[in-house]
Amino acid sequence: MNNIINGNSIEVIKTIGDNTIHLILSDIPYGISFDGWDVLHSNTNSALLGSSPAQEKAGSVFKKRGKPLNGWSEADKKMPLEYYEWCKSWAGDWLRVLKPGGSAFIFAGRRFAHRCICALEDSGFIYKDMISWEKETAAHRAQRISEVYKRRNDIENQVKWEGWRVGNLRPTFEPILWFMKPYKIGGTLADNIIENEVGAYNSEVWKKYSSQANNMIKVTSDKGDHGLHPAQKPIQLMKALIELTTKEEQIVLDPFCGSGSTLVAAKELNRKFIGIEYDPEFCKIANERISSDRGYN
Ligand SMILES: C[S@@+](CC[C@H](N)C(=O)[O-])C[C@H]1O[C@@H](n2cnc3c(N)ncnc32)[C@H](O)[C@@H]1O
Repeated sequence: MNNIINGNSIEVIKTIGDNTIHLILSDIPYGISFDGWDVLHSNTNSALLGSSPAQEKAGSVFKKRGKPLNGWSEADKKMPLEYYEWCKSWAGDWLRVLKPGGSAFIFAGRRFAHRCICALEDSGFIYKDMISWEKETAAHRAQRISEVYKRRNDIENQVKWEGWRVGNLRPTFEPILWFMKPYKIGGTLADNIIENEVGAYNSEVWKKYSSQANNMIKVTSDKGDHGLHPAQKPIQLMKALIELTTKEEQIVLDPFCGSGSTLVAAKELNRKFIGIEYDPEFCKIANERISSDRGYN
């Protein structure tokens, strides 16, 4: 227990016993080609993971181009289904290791969250809710189309399309998907809570984090919440989700733990934890964080 395992989550999770985990909390790869570990499709478009001139100019904020969406590309159209299949490759084991009535929280990204929901539903989970995490800052990547025409010296269209962009609105929220493992056939949730000690949520502690007891949350990030992983999540946010659904000494699993934010939060709340991560560098960072007093050095 209280262990970070360096390996492929899809294999490693098979070594964890049935009905042993109280909560799975994971910020899984979103499948949007954000970084090398986030490429979960067979699309070999050469623009993948490259940098556009604008991104290079912006320095560290926009490191990667991701995959430009081409409305005509068959390879692009396959990406959501490939993400679904990837989620299906581990969802059955997540269901197996969780205690009946236990929760799984997944950060899955706005673009393919629906595929993740279907994969977990098709694997036997109950999809309960979507929590909205309002981020403190969000990079806006929508290109001004008038700038493209300007570079082409197409003054007529530059003027005509002034103020218009291609892409998305500023992404200020991220969905956190909330699933539950079904409990005994014919049983009640009240009985399951007594038997497995999971299945209810602690509305009192949630108020500490979310000004109202609703399904939206905004936290203030700490100095240690940045710079360790390109997809690092605030410890305060992970704490809120852990306290919402578990009691002290219960076991939290993060199968894609990155720099270990979930594990640091679990440790500080006196929960047991297991993390899985296949990049040895992130494993090292996660180990250092959980060995230091406040989760960062
Ligand atoms: C979104 S990041 C998690 C970041 C984390 N929330 C943090 O605060 O640092 C997902 C992580 O999953 C890891 N990963 C991707 N596929 C994996 C696999 N099959 N097995 C284990 N780890 C994997 C990546 O290396 C990456 O660090």
